Amino acid sequence: MSKVYICTAIPYVNGNPHIGHAMDYLLADTYARFRRLLGDEVRFQVGTDEHGNKVFSTAQKNGKTVEEYAAENSQKFQDFVNKLNITYTDVIRTTDPDHIRRCQEIWQKLTPHIYSAEYDGWYCEGCESFVTKKEYDENGGVCSDHKKPYEKLSETNYYLRISDFKAEIRHQIETDGMKILPEFRKQEVLRLLEDAPDISISRPRGQLNWGVPVPGDETQVMYVWLDALSNYITILGYPDHEISDFWPATAQFVGKDILRFHTITWPAILLGLNLDLPENIVSHGHILVDGQKMSKSIGNVVDPIAVIERHGLEAFRYYFLRHADTFADSDFTWEKFDNAYANELANDLGNLVQRLATLCRKNEVCGLKVETEFSPEYLTMMGNFEFSKAFDYAWTKIQDLNRSIDQQKPWELAKTSPEKAKLVLTNLVKDLLSTSSYLEAFLPDTVSRILEIFGTMEIITPPATPLFPKN
Ligand code: MSP
Repeated sequence: MSKVYICTAIPYVNGNPHIGHAMDYLLADTYARFRRLLGDEVRFQVGTDEHGNKVFSTAQKNGKTVEEYAAENSQKFQDFVNKLNITYTDVIRTTDPDHIRRCQEIWQKLTPHIYSAEYDGWYCEGCESFVTKKEYDENGGVCSDHKKPYEKLSETNYYLRISDFKAEIRHQIETDGMKILPEFRKQEVLRLLEDAPDISISRPRGQLNWGVPVPGDETQVMYVWLDALSNYITILGYPDHEISDFWPATAQFVGKDILRFHTITWPAILLGLNLDLPENIVSHGHILVDGQKMSKSIGNVVDPIAVIERHGLEAFRYYFLRHADTFADSDFTWEKFDNAYANELANDLGNLVQRLATLCRKNEVCGLKVETEFSPEYLTMMGNFEFSKAFDYAWTKIQDLNRSIDQQKPWELAKTSPEKAKLVLTNLVKDLLSTSSYLEAFLPDTVSRILEIFGTMEIITPPATPLFPKN
């Protein structure tokens, strides 16, 4: 049994959760469930990133105090995580007093690598990110994600000397000491690392008030990313407690837009603290809607609660774990979602369950229990975080089972040889139960229902309501 620590990016609390926010949670949860199935002990963090100008200014626009606004939205994310049936073990808010104090202690430990200097350059509040001259020029002075001109800054900041750690970070990435997935993102990070500048880690209080005070300098507040990244270890109790039971993290799940913070800034902080780097950084693509980036100005932001209400949570998990490619950008449309529900969940799986259970009832076949050993292909895909591919693989087993029923025609066998029919049906039940294990990390509730129907020692009875009703 191994100890596994799984981390998710902590969202800003400047609005409601949208469908894109589900990705970190769903991928991390799939991995957590998979590792538990293998018998491992899993610790799994979620939380909210509450400081910074972006949250502060949105609170003001909404006529609320920032504390009140952050608390309200943090609760919405917490409710969302619960609604998604995410099996987290730890929740952090970056406004927690323990987190704030621990961040200050982290700062103090990093002081040999910190210096003060003038920053003269650009900033994007949407990304909460300092922008290099090169990026400024490449983007023509406008943030491509937020479509807003970069803000000019001239201010005194503290810097973290990235140059102290660059060679080690490169080495760890190249040798997969800290593995970046997928491979093309790893190459991207290695290119970025070439001219990665030292990182500004504070802002003057006049420019940023809503944040963690820099210890020993009342005029400065910590840059929100330093505070946010630290959550992955402060939640384990660092530096008050020894964290080696669960650190380094086994896997950190992040969207492609924040990969650089997790593969350059974060490793630099960890190396400065003499801590190991995470074992895997898994970078997922973005969810688009009708082929476009979701944005309030286009008005195409999809509310995840509406999606869940349409066909239930399992359909939501199904769509985003199978039809959203784990690593590439993927599209959501209501039409694709409805089709996946009707043709795949309801037809392939729902009908299979109903049909097989009905045949079992007629032929008085009893349920049973099976122990599944995962195939090497499946273990490799799950171990490489290729979840959408592993889900496809599991689904072919469902399709094979449908084909197998059609070919073996147990209803015809029943007319001539009831014993043979019983045997065929028992084997089909075994196959369904074993296939269910492959689905368990993705569709936990569906698999429990399948087990309720086929995993008891009594005569199998079809469920009163189908698993995926047609609506
Ligand atoms: N607060 C930072 C993360 C700090 S982690 C120490 C942040 N927050 S965020 O709210 O903008 O994003 C939270 C997560 O949601 C990120 O992993 C981000 O990539 C992901 N997504 C935001 N929009 C998304 C899509 N449209 N699609 C998929 N994931 C998306 O960044």
